[in-house]
Amino acid sequence: MKPDLKQIQAPIATEMEEFETKFRDFMKSKVKLLDHITNYIVRRKGKQMRPMFVFLTAGMCGGISESTYRGAALIELLHTATLVHDDVVDDSNYRRGFFSINALWKNKIAVLVGDYLLSRGLLLSVDNGDFDLLKIVSNAVREMSEGELLQMAKSRKLDITEDVYYTIIRQKTASLIASCCAVGASTSGAAGEIIDKMRTFGEKIGMAFQIKDDLFDYGEDEIGKPLGIDIKEKKMTLPLIYALNNASWLDKRKIIYLVRNKNEDKKSVNEVITFVKKSGGLAYANEAMNRYFDEAMALLTEFPDSEYKHSLEGLVRYTIERKK
Ligand code: IPE
Ligand code: IPE
Ligand code: MG
Ligand code: MG
Repeated sequence: MKPDLKQIQAPIATEMEEFETKFRDFMKSKVKLLDHITNYIVRRKGKQMRPMFVFLTAGMCGGISESTYRGAALIELLHTATLVHDDVVDDSNYRRGFFSINALWKNKIAVLVGDYLLSRGLLLSVDNGDFDLLKIVSNAVREMSEGELLQMAKSRKLDITEDVYYTIIRQKTASLIASCCAVGASTSGAAGEIIDKMRTFGEKIGMAFQIKDDLFDYGEDEIGKPLGIDIKEKKMTLPLIYALNNASWLDKRKIIYLVRNKNEDKKSVNEVITFVKKSGGLAYANEAMNRYFDEAMALLTEFPDSEYKHSLEGLVRYTIERKK
């Protein structure tokens, strides 16, 4: 059976509704331009997988509390802030099936809007004395910046290895999803060792999540954001790293040349994509993704059965089977 988000949400449907109202309120500003832009953002919401991870983990680990809502809103605000900045950094004009903030309002405004969203998230925790949550999440914010910068350094040198790729995705993506699960556990009153365990669980899901995102870039399906943009931005992800590691010296030189010098040329980008497919790079990345999936699922076995646990398993499955 295919996991479907509506079904997965069933045990937390009322929580998600309340979350959405709060999330919208937390973004409000008296500054007209900001209010206009945050309205635009909430009208084009994403999949909201991170708040779902927060609520389902909390439910499974002991129970959803008032602070679980703030944790979920804090994380979705940070996530939204990083996407707004990420589209500036990646020079991307398309997000969630529509124009990105930088496409409509330009980079200068997008940078400030990202900072505003970040500050709203942090204030939400400070104003409520949620310092344990701030500690979990601030670490993730640091790691996300480090990960994006490491990625940028590698896109200049094009000397990325598998190990470095894993470090990048652990920092830029898995750290926040790890925080979702740690925050969920923490706000349910779980013991330290359970919080740590759930953080590890979330990290593994985050790794699988980003490998999936990187695989989308090689596909042709409409996912609400640009395709082939990773190569255009000289981002070498797992499928390409694998293909290069298994290529002849001559092929390797050719492909690196195309990524370095012809990355803006559609035909050359397609040539790189074809090379990756022929080398089995997509299958290899799929296997790596499935390994993280298995490791994440294994961490859930010791928890007693509940509707939350059942949905959490569905959400993990959705992470690797999703269509966008
Ligand atoms: C996109 O995350 C950013 C990555 C870490 C790849 P999502 O795919 O969860 O984005 P939305 O919120 O659903 O748009
Ligand atoms: C993930 O990086 C986004 C962040 C962690 C900020 P990507 O650049 O690969 O994400 P998309 O594909 O633009 O969503
Ligand atoms: Mg991007
Ligand atoms: Mg991407």
